Amino acid sequence: MQTKQIRLTFLTPEQSLSIAQGDIILHALTSAGVPIKHACSNGVCGVCLTPLLDGEIDYEHRHPHGLNEKEKQNGYFLPCIATCKTDITIAQPKVLVKPK
Ligand code: FES
Repeated sequence: MQTKQIRLTFLTPEQSLSIAQGDIILHALTSAGVPIKHACSNGVCGVCLTPLLDGEIDYEHRHPHGLNEKEKQNGYFLPCIATCKTDITIAQPKVLVKPK
């Protein structure tokens, strides 16, 4: 299976993750320890909102209900239902899990 890269511009130093094409982006982020907050994991609540700076994602048959027009226009996407179509670059997710 092909892999894609996710560039995380908000970490210092900047990091990249490999993700298998077809894998959900949120899973790759949480497995790598990125403290992204999420709740419904099916594109409804909008908690996982993340800015996509570069590249293309794919929702396949899923629908991003948790994303409004304005957020879409501002380049946000929902990583809990998205896969990578190309290598992507993301900025800091809107809500991060607070360190305990
Ligand atoms: S976790 Fe609810 S929309 Fe992503």
